[in-house]
Amino acid sequence: MKIFRVLIVLVIVAFGCNTANKTPEAENTTKIMTNEVTKPTDIKVKGVNEVFVSSNDQMQFDKTEIRVKSGHKVTLTLRHKGMMSKIVMGHNFVLLNKGVDLVKFAQKALSAQDHNYVPLGSKDVLAYTKIIGGGERVSITFDAPEKGTYDFLCSFPGHYAMMKGKFIVE
Ligand code: CO
Repeated sequence: MKIFRVLIVLVIVAFGCNTANKTPEAENTTKIMTNEVTKPTDIKVKGVNEVFVSSNDQMQFDKTEIRVKSGHKVTLTLRHKGMMSKIVMGHNFVLLNKGVDLVKFAQKALSAQDHNYVPLGSKDVLAYTKIIGGGERVSITFDAPEKGTYDFLCSFPGHYAMMKGKFIVE
């Protein structure tokens, strides 16, 4: 009985240490990028779709597919878990309107360096964040567009080839 109790204490101590050591840095270096799809648990719809996207110094988003519910607002938070500055490894999140050609848009965006690489007044864009650098985060809120599949990308020069995915409104 006493041994049993000691074991329980050991388990609690081990578990406690484990969570205490989980600093953002540790998470950053041990987490393997999987380009995973948003799981139902990633999105809590209580009148608003909460979406979290992270990015890194390897020019990657952690998701290639995002699903949200129509008829609700979307709050999207983009994190940059890297160390590099936004001049060198800047990331944004740009949601394109239906039918907009991603490659053509990315080429147009090159000339919008002074405006977060998003052309001003463009009808191609439904929502976007500013460009952020390592260690930064940014949140935006917008209405989920009508049901369908949309493209998203990072419009920083040269990033769209790797940093893109589908935004699906259900
Ligand atoms: Co980028």
